[in-house]
Amino acid sequence: MSSPVLLVLGAGPGVGLAAARKFAQHGYKVALAARNPSEETSKAADLVVKIDFSDPSAVASTFEKVKGALGIPSVVVYNAYSWHPSEVDPFSVSVADFQTDLAVNTTSAFAAAKEAVKGFESLPKDSSKTFIFTGNILNVRQMLIFTSIGAGKSATAHIIANAAAAYLSKGFKFYYADERTPDGGPVNKDIDAHAHAEFFYNLARDPKQGPWLATFVKDKGYVDFTAADRAFLDA
Ligand SMILES: NC(=O)c1ccc[n+]([C@@H]2O[C@H](COP(=O)([O-])OP(=O)(O)OC[C@H]3O[C@@H](n4cnc5c(N)ncnc54)[C@H](OP(=O)(O)O)[C@@H]3O)[C@@H](O)[C@H]2O)c1
Ligand SMILES: *[C@@H]1O[C@H](CO)[C@@H](O)[C@H](O)[C@H]1NC(C)=O
Repeated sequence: MSSPVLLVLGAGPGVGLAAARKFAQHGYKVALAARNPSEETSKAADLVVKIDFSDPSAVASTFEKVKGALGIPSVVVYNAYSWHPSEVDPFSVSVADFQTDLAVNTTSAFAAAKEAVKGFESLPKDSSKTFIFTGNILNVRQMLIFTSIGAGKSATAHIIANAAAAYLSKGFKFYYADERTPDGGPVNKDIDAHAHAEFFYNLARDPKQGPWLATFVKDKGYVDFTAADRAFLDA
């Protein structure tokens, strides 16, 4: 059997690099796509695609390249994000900057999920078919990071929820992965790339769809924070 393929869209020194190393250790071929792939990230990959996802049409061509060079990806991670700080006033961001951020945070993620599904349809029955979007707490606690508009995370979470339900019977898995602190808060700058890689690998290995809202804690894995999130919104 040929090696399974991992594709990370938006692969930098953080989550992308850690995931590349983790999956490679387990026999995956790895394709990484980023705007400015570093030498370190490139070394961890079998294929590097230099691309800008502020143009969502870049997504389909990335999948084409990966398919041609390594095969159809069975695990797809969308990790790119774009952020123009909004200060305290959410409308201090220009419409053009908002549009760019939304293209990277959501439209290209939508395009990636679409391409991933196209590929999943033609993969063997027993292969892991897993799409993971790297999220954060902004989809459920909108006001928590005051300098962020954060709209794209909510929108993409919505897409992931729909996809998880729609493709459940086919065994295609969809996750919005969100690392939290043990008490359910955002990890912010303390984001742990290795914890992401570990969690992603476990999601890929599990044959069954788990909760699409995949909140997780380092060294613990999935933790259900829906009650804490609801209490936060009610307060
Ligand atoms: N759970 C939490 O509380 C939490 C906290 C922090 C972050 N996060 C999430 O974690 C993810 C990223 O973390 P990370 O540590 O992996 O960051 P990272 O190492 O900087 O990776 C992000 C990658 O995305 C690429 N990228 C950005 N815009 C792009 C574009 N237009 N086209 C192509 N590639 C693009 C960047 O490339 P360039 O270097 O070329 O820009 C970079 O390589 C994000 O989704 C973020 O929202 C979650
Ligand atoms: C895009 O995502 C980043 C990271 O969560 C966030 O800071 C930014 O506000 C988001 N922008 C939009 C328009 O969604």
